[in-house]
Amino acid sequence: MKRSDPLIVFTPSGKRGRFPVGTTVLQAARQLGVDLDSVCGGRGICSRCQIAPGFGSFPKHGIEAHPNSLSEWNAVEDRYNRIRGLKAGRRLGCQAKLHGDIVIDVPRGSQVHKQVVRKDADERPVKMDPAVRLYYLEVEEPDMHNPSGDFERLRTALAEQWDIECVEIEINALRKLQPALRKGNWTATVALHYNIQGQAPRILEVWPGFLDGSVYGVAIDLGSTTIAAHLCDLRDGRVLSSAGIMNPQIRFGEDLMSRVSYAMMNPCGDREMTNAVREALNNLISEVIGQAGVNAGQVLEIVLVCNPVMHHIVMGIDPVELGQAPFALATADSVTLTAADLDIAILSSSAQIYVLPCIAGHVGSDSAAVVLAEEPHKSDDRVLVIDVGTNAELVYGSKDRLLACSSPTGPAFEGAQISSGQRAAPGAIERVEIDRDSREPRFKVIGSNLWSDDPEFYHSIEGIGVTGICGSGIIEAIAEMRICGIVDQSGLIGSAEQAGSPRLVPDGRTFAYILFDPPERNAPPVWVTQADIRAIQLAKSALYAGAKLLMDEFGADRADRIVLAGAFGSRISTRHAMVLGMIPDCELGKVSAAGNAAGTGARIALCSNTARSEIEAVVRQIEKIETAVEPKFQEHFVNANAIPHSVDNFPELRKAVEFTDADHGKSARRGDSRGRQRQRKRSRKPSPA
Ligand code: FES
Repeated sequence: MKRSDPLIVFTPSGKRGRFPVGTTVLQAARQLGVDLDSVCGGRGICSRCQIAPGFGSFPKHGIEAHPNSLSEWNAVEDRYNRIRGLKAGRRLGCQAKLHGDIVIDVPRGSQVHKQVVRKDADERPVKMDPAVRLYYLEVEEPDMHNPSGDFERLRTALAEQWDIECVEIEINALRKLQPALRKGNWTATVALHYNIQGQAPRILEVWPGFLDGSVYGVAIDLGSTTIAAHLCDLRDGRVLSSAGIMNPQIRFGEDLMSRVSYAMMNPCGDREMTNAVREALNNLISEVIGQAGVNAGQVLEIVLVCNPVMHHIVMGIDPVELGQAPFALATADSVTLTAADLDIAILSSSAQIYVLPCIAGHVGSDSAAVVLAEEPHKSDDRVLVIDVGTNAELVYGSKDRLLACSSPTGPAFEGAQISSGQRAAPGAIERVEIDRDSREPRFKVIGSNLWSDDPEFYHSIEGIGVTGICGSGIIEAIAEMRICGIVDQSGLIGSAEQAGSPRLVPDGRTFAYILFDPPERNAPPVWVTQADIRAIQLAKSALYAGAKLLMDEFGADRADRIVLAGAFGSRISTRHAMVLGMIPDCELGKVSAAGNAAGTGARIALCSNTARSEIEAVVRQIEKIETAVEPKFQEHFVNANAIPHSVDNFPELRKAVEFTDADHGKSARRGDSRGRQRQRKRSRKPSPA
């Protein structure tokens, strides 16, 4: 490099250097370590190296750039522009040569490690660093006088043309190599997989000539109830299609422990469940591939997150050890497999599957994915992240220290064990408000945007009806009942006289509150019974006790911020959850729903090997608390039984919500169970809400 050589400055990186006249912009970028993409290695085929030259005066850089600072538009660019079109002002970095001082902008689309802005709530960017990358190669033809294998010559080409040494090849790719090289006239595109464990990169696929397209990956959140998949372009992280299905294992048991029991009680029960979930994964992956219209052979990676029981079942590991103390995992580390290992027949057998590490025997890779998405390990605030499900998984802490535990909440939050309960499906009541003066409710059902007191409501739910109440609905209903004194602090429902509403009807020795009384004869009402409240109290006490245990261990008595993750977490009203005492007291504005944070974490890991290394390191640092053996858990559980709590006084909540005082201690009725139905029918309010 001489002082008289042209100066090139790249933006936005600011990297600069002098290079001899005739150096291509791509060569200069490579030497300076500028993030400029290339799949074809500068042969003018891939167009990944697009740049935007800046002409004029750049006093900041001391540069006067003229149109002749770069070589003229050449035939390669002309052909590309005619066939595919180049944006105005763009050149191909591998064709444009330096003739004078110049400022070159590298557009976002031409950066390998581009920042991809997530569409989620906090819009945090993800830096692209995918595990699978494409390389175009020109490979020497075989020579009788210098015999060597096609793979060895391809390896030499990778070293010479891309500085990539010591690659290995999957058997599936090796089988395709010879026909591909001959069909491509001794040129080929290979997909290389970089493992974060530092093993040699592996060739997963080989295509003849230049592969005009991308490679794709699927991020999968394998939940015990639902499975969600997002197909992403591994060039830029874009989600091309998404789909979700119910987990077919529900037929073996609603919650995780019943599935573990199924495996224990039935010979080959674990195998049955493994087959069922793998079949569902095949169907789901086919669906997202079909929706996006991409070639299945170009889908080369899956990132999978799941709870520990699903983790074992999908990998064909008997989950029996997870059903009993000390809840030992077969492995807590991340696992890398191939599609063939999990019978994912729709993909190439060499497609890679990366399963994030688990945190503990009850806190799975789905929680690790939530941590990756929500980043409590980078927070100055003490953050409580709760993934609400049949087994709630909790992470608490800050950048100084993170703790995790799980709490056996059971299925009540999903509408199970609730007398009018149902899954979140059309017809289910999902929102409830109760008027403080009249104690009259209004509600919304899934499938309609209207409140039940809207004149058009019944018209809007024709064909849907009001069929029951789902998890978010029961939480709001009980919280509203508590706010207006229909339920007292201990969780007791008052009588019609005590609570001042004819909607309170006897139900055996207790009372129930009718939310909706269908006009049809003999149709059951949608109501909230004392038993429902007890079931929710048990679930929410377990959740709260888990959170308290983590705060105790941390040496703190509050959370500065609470994040509710999971589909259920995003459906529930945070205010009502706090009224109920599901979550600790916190400024209401600091409680947020993160949507499917586990799915988001899976997508981040799919786009970035750096993120995989980061979460593996963070998971190793997380301290695991086992609720089952912590003596304080029981005490916290009992104290959390009251609504919102019998000891903690929730100062932030009380700033925002005024409770009506009530004590229904003497309201318990005596009567035989056979009399309940008669009493209830007689007392039912005749008209719908
Ligand atoms: Fe492929 Fe320039 S590097 S077109």
